[in-house]
Amino acid sequence: MRLLRRSLSVRTRLTLWYGGVLLAIVLVISAFSYFMLRRTLISGADVELVMVGQVVRDAGIGEARRSEAEVRDMLGPRFLDVFYRVTGPGGKPEAESGALRGRHLPLSAQARERARSGDPTFETVRLSRGEHIRLLTIPVTQEPARFIQVGATFSDIDRALAGYMETLAVMVPLGLGLALVGGAWLARSALRPVETMSRTARRISAQDLTRRLPLRGTSDELDHLAETLNAMFARLDAAFTHVRRFAVDAAHELRTPLTVLKGGIEVALRAERDPREYRDVLRSSLEEVEQLIALAENLLLLSRLRMSTALPRHAVELETVLMEAVDTGVRLAHGHGVIVRLGAVEPVIVHGDHSTLRRALVNLVDNAIKYTKAGGKVELSLERDGRLAVVTVSDTGVGMDPADAERIFEPFVRLDAARGSEVVGAGLGLSIVHSIVLAHDGHLSVQTAPGVGSTFAIRLPLA
Ligand SMILES: Nc1ncnc2c1ncn2[C@@H]1O[C@H](COP(=O)(O)OP(=O)(O)OP(=O)(O)O)[C@@H](O)[C@H]1O
Ligand SMILES: [Mg+2]
Repeated sequence: MRLLRRSLSVRTRLTLWYGGVLLAIVLVISAFSYFMLRRTLISGADVELVMVGQVVRDAGIGEARRSEAEVRDMLGPRFLDVFYRVTGPGGKPEAESGALRGRHLPLSAQARERARSGDPTFETVRLSRGEHIRLLTIPVTQEPARFIQVGATFSDIDRALAGYMETLAVMVPLGLGLALVGGAWLARSALRPVETMSRTARRISAQDLTRRLPLRGTSDELDHLAETLNAMFARLDAAFTHVRRFAVDAAHELRTPLTVLKGGIEVALRAERDPREYRDVLRSSLEEVEQLIALAENLLLLSRLRMSTALPRHAVELETVLMEAVDTGVRLAHGHGVIVRLGAVEPVIVHGDHSTLRRALVNLVDNAIKYTKAGGKVELSLERDGRLAVVTVSDTGVGMDPADAERIFEPFVRLDAARGSEVVGAGLGLSIVHSIVLAHDGHLSVQTAPGVGSTFAIRLPLA
């Protein structure tokens, strides 16, 4: 059953459901209308029986006051098929209509019982010959007990009901068949856009993420689905582009120091040198290698930060992290003529990883020192802002054009001022900071003006 359900298409399933529900409704309505029709026909027949019964009683048939012919005259031609019998004490027939034609009308115990309290009884009975009749028993007198029984054949009603059944037997399957065909057509046209969508989606591959699903402009659920999928493709496209650019930039960054290294070694090998010259080449090669290692470590760190969803998290006292970053900053600033100091600090605890957070702050302090001229100042501060801890690293350095400031969190982005200067770097520091802050559910921002300085702010949710 489950296998069958799995192999049926949505279209077939929709059509079958539609057909099933419709069949159930039609069957309920048909049964209800059948019983309503039967009841109406029977109560119509009962009215006639009562009328004949009253006329027979008023005419005093059993007492031989009037003959049957006279009663028939009074009733008119419509009542030709109605037959009656008057029963006297002990069940002795006192009078019978000619239309009875030898039928034996049963007098049930229930009819006798009800007659005792003066009530008439309607019954539907099957006679011994198999004939179906409607029978009314009315009491005439109690002592001695006399009844009038009026009957009419049920065949008209049976015929009308059978005709109705035949109509239903033709109309229900026909209607159902037409409804199924219509339902299948409806389901197909409703699902056609889905098919188009899946065909287009199949053609969209990692190589060609620029394709989009067509919108029909109807603003319905399917258009919303197409919009949602398009938004997903756009995000995938951006992510793929990002990854590709990252790989190209990383290869480029690695190639420059490797080329320098290769050039130095080749020059050294071209002729016999004295040991001092070899040592110089080795020293500068070591510097290049150290730079390469730092770059590779940064790349690795960045990839790890972007991949890992969960960092180890503990309660971290930000004040301690700040002090450690200041210590490192003081060492880095040595010989630069830049003052690094701790500003206002409030004790604040966040949930996170101590060494990763320290890494973020050291990167910011490193930048602040690198991009501040001698005589400038770098200040770190920590305060609370509602449910957030705000760490700021501000400098009085070269600053940036605020329009450029939007790009600097991207990997390998170095602004012209940095590229033109002596300051070395790969442009990975801030993207590492950004990834660390995001991994801590925080927010990184910068306020800056050229020639005035920059203030980087990290906002982290309190523990
Ligand atoms: N405090 C700052 N003042 C002025 N410009 C800055 C400051 N911090 C960053 N920048 C600019 O943003 C760019 C990106 O910074 P980022 O830290 O990512 O790279 P980097 O310092 O150049 O290299 P790396 O950090 O990988 O050694 C820098 O090249 C510089 O142009
Ligand atoms: Mg940096």
